[in-house]
Amino acid sequence: MKLADNKATLSFSNGTPSIEMPVYSGNIGPDVIDIRKLYAQSGMFTYDPGFLSTASCQSGITFIDGDKGELLYRGYPIEQLANHGDYLDTCYLLLKGDLPSEKESADFHKLVNNHTMVNEQMQFFLRGFRRDAHPMAVLTGLVGALSAFYHDSTDITNPEHREISAIRLIAKLPTLVAMSYKYGVGQPFMYPQNSLSYSGNFLRMMFGVPCEDYVVNPVLERALDRIFILHADHEQNASTSTVRLCGSSGTNPFAAIAAGVACLWGPAHGGANEACLKMLDDIQKMGGISKVGEFMEQVKDKNSGVKLMGFGHRVYKNYDPRAKLMQETCNEVLAELGLENDPLFKLAKQVEKIALEDDYFVSRKLYPNVDFYSGIVQRAIGIPVNLFTGVFALARTVGWIAQLNEMIGDPEYKIGRPRQLFTGSPSRNVPGAK
Ligand code: SDX
Repeated sequence: MKLADNKATLSFSNGTPSIEMPVYSGNIGPDVIDIRKLYAQSGMFTYDPGFLSTASCQSGITFIDGDKGELLYRGYPIEQLANHGDYLDTCYLLLKGDLPSEKESADFHKLVNNHTMVNEQMQFFLRGFRRDAHPMAVLTGLVGALSAFYHDSTDITNPEHREISAIRLIAKLPTLVAMSYKYGVGQPFMYPQNSLSYSGNFLRMMFGVPCEDYVVNPVLERALDRIFILHADHEQNASTSTVRLCGSSGTNPFAAIAAGVACLWGPAHGGANEACLKMLDDIQKMGGISKVGEFMEQVKDKNSGVKLMGFGHRVYKNYDPRAKLMQETCNEVLAELGLENDPLFKLAKQVEKIALEDDYFVSRKLYPNVDFYSGIVQRAIGIPVNLFTGVFALARTVGWIAQLNEMIGDPEYKIGRPRQLFTGSPSRNVPGAK
């Protein structure tokens, strides 16, 4: 970051001396006002619940222009990455900063493939869960439990430890997500098959069974790989900020990523794809396309608490570029499976059309986000609704790790410790206390 030829001056109407603060510029995107000395100089904090106007860090990994609907991973547009290489090439890019050469790509694929198995003890954790446990409850536990098996790589300040734990997490998340699914359906766990691609391996661990060979469908394999790419990172979103804050205490990478899994589960964040599919199902049950108008009235009624899931975004005030790519992927998968007339897909397209013509959504710049179509394509592939967020967590693990490693490698990083505006009781005595 570089000093801008600009300064911010904060003046006070009560005669408190004004304060000058430096302004810094990045390479693209908004400048920042450096308020780090504000409390020392003014005795006051800034106030920004939800962080609508707060940059928590400097980062060179992912850039979003919300007005243009632009998303860049290390400078490369998501539209190009979705059609260039595969998810592991995107992982390499996010972790190392550049796309891999052919040899670097082959070596990275081989390295990840060598770590896809989990310790045999991990399966005994699952036995402690009810069979109908939500897979995100299982996954939060399993990811955190990984730290119990890798005492050789839990020092986050050690670059070698960060490197090997990154590979282990990227390699093992598909295995753990598939195990949480198999446990829920009462089928035996499938071991990874390293002759398959990353996405092909996941499909086989999910839908293969020991009693017969599983043939990977290349269209589904490619679609899943693209879904992983689209979800890989997204600047300082809620779960990434959680991972950064958690990791800032110096805890091990597995624990920090487990915190990200837990945060992603929320319906306002990664849980929105599951909530969106449930919403479409509800509209279908109400009567389908003919009832979309009635549903939209509920959404516009603030007292209903009903939101159009898969719509809206804190940063995108234009169409989420990932939603466009996800819709294309949806078309490909439904065509491959002969489901072009999938009623939920037709309903989703109608809901999108109606919303984009309705001033309530247009005036609030509410557009489809990554979660709007992802549920439909995952359901078509055969992934159960309650596993959608687990798939999101699988894909986002590399982004969390890249952001965590960038923070730890930033010489300016400190433990995150926000302050507050205290609105509680002033000091008072317990009755009878001296
Ligand atoms: C993800 O941050 C990321 O990058 C996240 C993510 C990633 O890759 O990590 O992109 C992934 O989490 C995508 C978002 C998935 N969530 C959903 O689809 C849930 C539905 N969306 C909303 O909950 C909401 O849009 C948020 C949470 C995504 C964003 O909320 P904001 O930025 O806090 O906006 P807001 O709630 O202040 O809304 C502004 C206005 C309000 O109306 P007014 O009070 O101004 O009248 O828009 C309305 C809101 O009521 N609004 C919606 C709406 N989203 C916002 N109204 C109806 N349906 C919606 N979905």
